[in-house]
Amino acid sequence: MNAEAQSLYEDLKRRLGNFVPDAELYYKAEIAVEINRLKAGRNAVILGHNYMEPVLFHSIPDFKGDSLDLSRKAAQTDKDVIVFCGVRFMAETAKILSPGKTVLLPAEKAGCSLAESITAEDVRALKRKYPGVPVVTYVNTYADVKAESDICCTSGNAVAVVESLHAETVIFLPDQYLASNVARETGKHIIFPQISSAPAAAAPENLLDVQFIGWHGRCEVHEKFTVEDIRAVRKQFPDVAVLTHPECSPEVVAAADFSGSTNAMIRFVQESRAPHFLVLTECSMGDNIAAANPEKDLLRLCMVRCPHMNTITMENVRDSLRLNRFVIEIPENIRARAYRAVERMIQIG
Ligand code: 13P
Ligand code: SF4
Repeated sequence: MNAEAQSLYEDLKRRLGNFVPDAELYYKAEIAVEINRLKAGRNAVILGHNYMEPVLFHSIPDFKGDSLDLSRKAAQTDKDVIVFCGVRFMAETAKILSPGKTVLLPAEKAGCSLAESITAEDVRALKRKYPGVPVVTYVNTYADVKAESDICCTSGNAVAVVESLHAETVIFLPDQYLASNVARETGKHIIFPQISSAPAAAAPENLLDVQFIGWHGRCEVHEKFTVEDIRAVRKQFPDVAVLTHPECSPEVVAAADFSGSTNAMIRFVQESRAPHFLVLTECSMGDNIAAANPEKDLLRLCMVRCPHMNTITMENVRDSLRLNRFVIEIPENIRARAYRAVERMIQIG
C-alpha cells in the first residue's frame, strides 16, 4: 500500500471503523486512490447520493447530498465528465442540465421503482383527461416523463413547487405517498384516477373537490416501513426522535416526529438534542449519519437497502472512468423539454 492509500485507509478507519470490517477498508482505500487518479486525468467530478455505501460515500465524491443538491451541483460544474454515484434518473437529470458534458453512471441499469412506475404515454393520457391542469413530476422519473411535465420537484422542495404554481388543481406524479403527504401539507384533497391510454380518453371529471391528482408509484424501500415499527421502538425508547422520508406512507409520516429529504434528515440529527434517533430510510444513510455523528445514539432499524443504489460500487466507479461507461444519452428533443421542467424547479430553490 502506498502512502496515499495508507493515509486514506487511516482516515476511513477513524470514521468507519465501527461499521466496516478492516479488510474492506484496506481494500477499498486502494481502489479510492486509483479512482482519484483517474478522476484527475479525465477532469471529472464525482457526485455521491446520501444512499451510497459508507466507504464510497466517505472516500471519493467531490459533492454529496440529496437529489436537489446534486442536480444543482451538476448544473454548476465546469468539469468535462460527471460520474454520478446514484441511480439512472439522477444521472439523467445531470445530463439534462449539462448536455455538453459526458455523464457516466457506473452501473448499467441502476433503476428505481418510482421511475419505472410511469411512462411518458401515461402522462400524455393524464393530460388528455385533465386538459390545462399543470403537471408536477418528482425527479425520480426518466427524462421522457420529465419532458411531458410543467415542472419537476424533489422531496426537498415539493411543497414550495406546488405552492409556486398558484393552481387550483395539480397533477402530481408518480409517487402515491409523496403526493398524499404533500397534499396533506398543502391542505388539498387527492384522487388517484384510472386512466386509459386510448387516444379518446374519458371526459374530464368534475374537479370541484379535487385539488391533487396522483399516480400509483411507490418507492420499494420506503413503502416497507410501518406504523407498527415506530410503535415498537417508541415502547422501548419513549424519547426517541423518529425521522421519515416523505416517500413513506402518510400514516408512517404522521406517526413520526419529522419528515424530510435525505439532506433534511441529516440536518435534523445534527441539530437536534434528542437522546435517540430512529431514521426510517435506506440503510446506508443510517451508517453515514452514524459515522458523521459519533456522539449521537442512532437506533438502527435497517431492513431495506435500495437494490438499485446498491449496484454502485467502488469497482464499477473505477471501471466507469477507465472504460468510459455507462454513458448517459438523451435525445435532444426530449432533453430540451425536460430541461425546462428541471430548470423551472431549480429556479424555485
Ligand atoms: P432525496 O431527494 O431526499 O435525496 O431522495 C431520493 C431518493 O431516491 C429517496 O428514495
Ligand atoms: Fe428509487 Fe426508492 Fe431506491 Fe430512492 S430508495 S432510488 S425512490 S427505489
